Amino acid sequence: MTKPKIYITRKLPDKNLQILKEKANVDMWDDEWEPVPHHILLEKAQQADGMLTMLTERVDKSFFDHAPHLKIVANMAVGYDNIDIQEAKKRGVIVTNTPDVLTETTADLAFGLLMAAARRIVEASEYVKAGSWKNWGPFLLAGKDLHRKTLGIVGMGRIGAAVAKRSKGFDMNILYHNRSRDLETEEELGASYVSFEKLLKESDFVVCLTPLTEDTKGMFNKKAFELMKNDAVFVNVGRGPVVDEQALYEALKTGEIGGAGLDVCNEEPIRPDHPLLSLRQAVILPHIGSASVETRHAMIDLAVKNLYQVLIESHSPLTPV
Ligand code: DGY
Repeated sequence: MTKPKIYITRKLPDKNLQILKEKANVDMWDDEWEPVPHHILLEKAQQADGMLTMLTERVDKSFFDHAPHLKIVANMAVGYDNIDIQEAKKRGVIVTNTPDVLTETTADLAFGLLMAAARRIVEASEYVKAGSWKNWGPFLLAGKDLHRKTLGIVGMGRIGAAVAKRSKGFDMNILYHNRSRDLETEEELGASYVSFEKLLKESDFVVCLTPLTEDTKGMFNKKAFELMKNDAVFVNVGRGPVVDEQALYEALKTGEIGGAGLDVCNEEPIRPDHPLLSLRQAVILPHIGSASVETRHAMIDLAVKNLYQVLIESHSPLTPV
């Protein structure tokens, strides 16, 4: 029997790929940091039965046009807005993602961003490193308390629920907004379902975890920031394009809101001269929500298992989208 051909779009550790390499012909882009150029991706797609992709790859109609043998795209991320799912469906290509294994790690980072933006942790560290620390002062780098405040979660999925669980340890009052109510979550976490507008008006902290879709694109716009409290802290650990960055910049600059923590941006990487980077009250990270060593290995392993199930065992994948 001929071995299936698999293309992996980033250099990944050998030990995670062992089980695949025994049963398949595995080819891999030989760089850990730079994404595979699109024309090479298309060239590799010609032969591939399966692909292991990152969120940096654009898996669109033209990609599928170049991939006549493709059976599965295993995306190494829980989000899959880089993939045209309708196009995949039309062609019978299975798409999988990596949910669950990254939930707690991403929630840790979301909470870390909340803390960092609220208590000005990054700014304070930069202040010390710049040699500016001359004395103690009653309000030196004074921030905002998290405990007993109201947390609003937009997108109460697995990661949202894990953030809510953490906030209970801080005695926070939890509001959430989703496309639909989740009574189990409400009962388990003591969270209250509210409209998007009410959440924005009443929350001291707003955490966005909603996936990027046509409906959510740009939902955090000028009007949304105007509805927030003037000292509210906005955190985004979902996808950058759900935020109108110009509106966020204006809101921070004019004091419409108090601070922001972003793990994701409209364009990644963000341009070094982007206005948001000039604001002391914005903490901006390079999309590291799930980036713990343990979790990144677990994500690779899950993507590999999905490829193995479909291409070697001819079974259903573990985590189809
Ligand atoms: C995801 O999995 O979608 C994250 O954004 C990347 O880890």
